[in-house]
Amino acid sequence: MAGGGARTAARVTGLAPSAIRRMAVGAPEDAIDLALGEPGWPLPAVAREALATVSAEHGTLPYGPNASRPELVAAVAEVHGQLNGIPTPGADRVMVTSGSQAALFALFSAHVEVGSTVLVPDPGFVSYGSLAHLCQARAAGYPLGPGGVLDADALVATLDAQPDVSLVVLNHPANPTGGVASAAALASVAEACARRGAVLVSDEVYRELWVGERPAGLHEAAGPDAGIVLGSVSKAYGAPGLRVGWAVGDPALLAPARVVHNAMTTAPAGPSQRAATALLRASASVLEEAREHVQVRWETAGRAAPGLLARADTARGSAGRAGASAARAGFYLWLPVPDDVAPADTTDFALRVRDTSRVTTVPGDAFGPAGAGFLRVSLGGPLDDLTEGLGRLAPWCEA
Ligand SMILES: Cc1ncc(COP(=O)(O)O)c(C=O)c1O
Repeated sequence: MAGGGARTAARVTGLAPSAIRRMAVGAPEDAIDLALGEPGWPLPAVAREALATVSAEHGTLPYGPNASRPELVAAVAEVHGQLNGIPTPGADRVMVTSGSQAALFALFSAHVEVGSTVLVPDPGFVSYGSLAHLCQARAAGYPLGPGGVLDADALVATLDAQPDVSLVVLNHPANPTGGVASAAALASVAEACARRGAVLVSDEVYRELWVGERPAGLHEAAGPDAGIVLGSVSKAYGAPGLRVGWAVGDPALLAPARVVHNAMTTAPAGPSQRAATALLRASASVLEEAREHVQVRWETAGRAAPGLLARADTARGSAGRAGASAARAGFYLWLPVPDDVAPADTTDFALRVRDTSRVTTVPGDAFGPAGAGFLRVSLGGPLDDLTEGLGRLAPWCEA
């Protein structure tokens, strides 16, 4: 029972606040935050200029079209086509949303039947399970390969073992593991989902943040009709606070999701749309700079805590190409806890580190049972924090 005798809807009870929030509550005031999953480099100049232009204008600030400003839709379409080597999708294939989070909400609401099953990566981004729960569906985790890479055979085996799968989520490069997907694995999963009539959603919000080797994408690997691909200005474009994301794919799958998104929030804020358009139009340079920021962070981690990087690289099976020369995707270090910490004690360990050494990470089991025994360490934040935070963490985990 909530206050005043009001009842909380059953589909909401059971949803816990995110582990990131739980780790923040009660943290020492001077704790360094290596838990937040967002870029810590400055908002690119083109976005700052667009926001300044909006604020200098003398006039109204209208809602704008439900489908978002046409020039933003066109910019998303053009960049998506270029980055995937496919023709520029039509406007009916692009749904602009309030962050990719709202795209997920709208797609789940539109396609996940009550009582059906949603396949989610284990470990995986916590929202996938929460959204399945909100839709009164069952989230079933599928296992990933070493280093969190997409193991298509394991996913298809999980799919074939479930009677009623409404939706399958892929996330690559992955939060929290940084794992990627090969083009062949993506094509194979797309084929299996089409055969089973499951909607395939490929969350690719970290894709352009690579070092050394660009990861594959679903539409690039399997064509523009293979599922829905999600993107966002929040990670690679350095602008999480704008709250602009998108979904690209089959218009018939997007149409009911648009209805949900309109009911929920109409469209992203007008100034955000203007800034997002500017970012997308400057895509080539903005993404190149973002990759430099990410590379600097991995190099900083290598200098500040080589033992941590080596430990994570050994666990992800990249001992041959570890350290500075390893290919990286995204900005998360997926770090095994020390050998003498039982996987079931991962959260206790993360809290001990937080309270003793004043550095906050996310315990891996927050992302699913297979995450037990790992910490997610974000390298995305300010560089000074990163050096200091990893320095505090290293003595706990380098053994
Ligand atoms: C894998 C993944 N997908 C989607 C999101 C949501 O991002 P946004 O709504 O800011 O686009 C996040 C945010 O952390 C994420 O890690």
